[in-house]
Amino acid sequence: MRVAIFGTGYVGLVTGTCLAEVGHQVTCVDIDQAKVDGLNHGIIPIYEPGLEPMVKENHAAFRLAFTVDAASAIGQCPVVFIAVGTPPDEDGSADLQYVLAVARTIGRHIQVPTVVVNKSTVPVGTADKVRAVIAAELSARGVDIAFDVVSNPEFLKEGDAVADCMRPDRIVVGSANADSVALMRRLYAPFNRNHDRVVEMDVRSAELTKYAANAMLATKISFMNEIANIAERVGADVEQVRQGIGSDPRIGWHFIYPGAGYGGSCFPKDVQALARTAQQAGLEPRLLNAVEAVNDAQKGHLFELIQRHYGSDGVRGRTIAVWGLAFKPNTDDMRAASSRRLLEQLWDAGACVRAYDPEAMDEARRIFGQRGDLVFCDSAGAALDGADALAVVTEWKPFRSPDFARLREALADAVVFDGRNLYDPAEIEAAGLAYYGIGRGRSLHV
Ligand code: UDX
Repeated sequence: MRVAIFGTGYVGLVTGTCLAEVGHQVTCVDIDQAKVDGLNHGIIPIYEPGLEPMVKENHAAFRLAFTVDAASAIGQCPVVFIAVGTPPDEDGSADLQYVLAVARTIGRHIQVPTVVVNKSTVPVGTADKVRAVIAAELSARGVDIAFDVVSNPEFLKEGDAVADCMRPDRIVVGSANADSVALMRRLYAPFNRNHDRVVEMDVRSAELTKYAANAMLATKISFMNEIANIAERVGADVEQVRQGIGSDPRIGWHFIYPGAGYGGSCFPKDVQALARTAQQAGLEPRLLNAVEAVNDAQKGHLFELIQRHYGSDGVRGRTIAVWGLAFKPNTDDMRAASSRRLLEQLWDAGACVRAYDPEAMDEARRIFGQRGDLVFCDSAGAALDGADALAVVTEWKPFRSPDFARLREALADAVVFDGRNLYDPAEIEAAGLAYYGIGRGRSLHV
């Protein structure tokens, strides 16, 4: 099937590549000429495991093309995806300007009956707005071409995006039109083998499903962080509590890891956007507000532990090694990353930072630039050189089992602040290091 996709960010590029991989004829459209040129030369703008070879192979096989020419891309395509960003507005609601700009472009250029598929994360009611914009363009052209707008939210996780796309656990299709649903089923048939993963629903429910999924996951994390903070105060270890509750299948093992707070391009923005949607509908979203507030506080927790260890003003003049800058492992993405809050707090308190991340160093240079109180290091080991303490912010695999004796030697103050509970407190303390984790009451020595 011929497919056009607007937007070559995470969602658009991964979706386009996976659709090409199963044999569809995909054209990805972006307004950024440099990005399109790069993609046509095999330069992938994001770090995502497994994506680069797939893009190159499908591009070489002429199943995947990149262009800025919207008109030719839309051409005779029966299906056109919208996969552009919906960044937060000033009040936290999703900014629809890019989505609606694509809708205008689609309205200007479609030639044949078209199913417009919205994959961007958009507030409930956006499909109607997209429909109105396209209809207005068609009437300005004086043509009458049938089209439908389908909501088909994306659930991919950064770092696992290709696998999530190739083996989806559900394919949500929101449409009242049986022909559109049938077309979506044909499009996704290669990903929908053995058992039916397509969940059909109305458009508004599909739009809300995406927010509900992310808000639910964010709620689990904030809940666990709250339990961690209680554990810390009452002398319990949240890691033991986590195992105690995760074994209940109604709770499950996923997304109950306490830590330095959630970040990334989705959870913070989607929880806020859903809260704004509720408010606009006349409902005060008490739970969502709390989820966000708990996370915001949690991003400052690692620094609180550091300050607790050193005493007020004791952080001044210290050098802290920071392992992990990306908002999670296997990505170079630092959007809303907890590391950013920690670094700002350390600098405000007069500390220097020696930072290392396996993938996000270029991104960190772009965000922070050159500054006297930040040293970008080439390895985890190099970050320790001359450092007084270590703070671990992202749970990259190579950080999981360091040589504790080497840490003890390298860190002048022999102390580790573990923002992801990677280490066994007993083991690390046996090596002669002081240990602070998240929600590990014993770390307070109560
Ligand atoms: C998320 C959703 O998982 C995905 O389905 C949706 O399409 C987009 O948003 P992503 O933002 O890529 O994906 O990251 P995810 O793996 O969900 O992690 C989000 C954040 O939560 C990270 O900062 C992570 O460190 C944190 N997290 C996750 C926890 O603190 N504890 C956990 O138990 C799980």
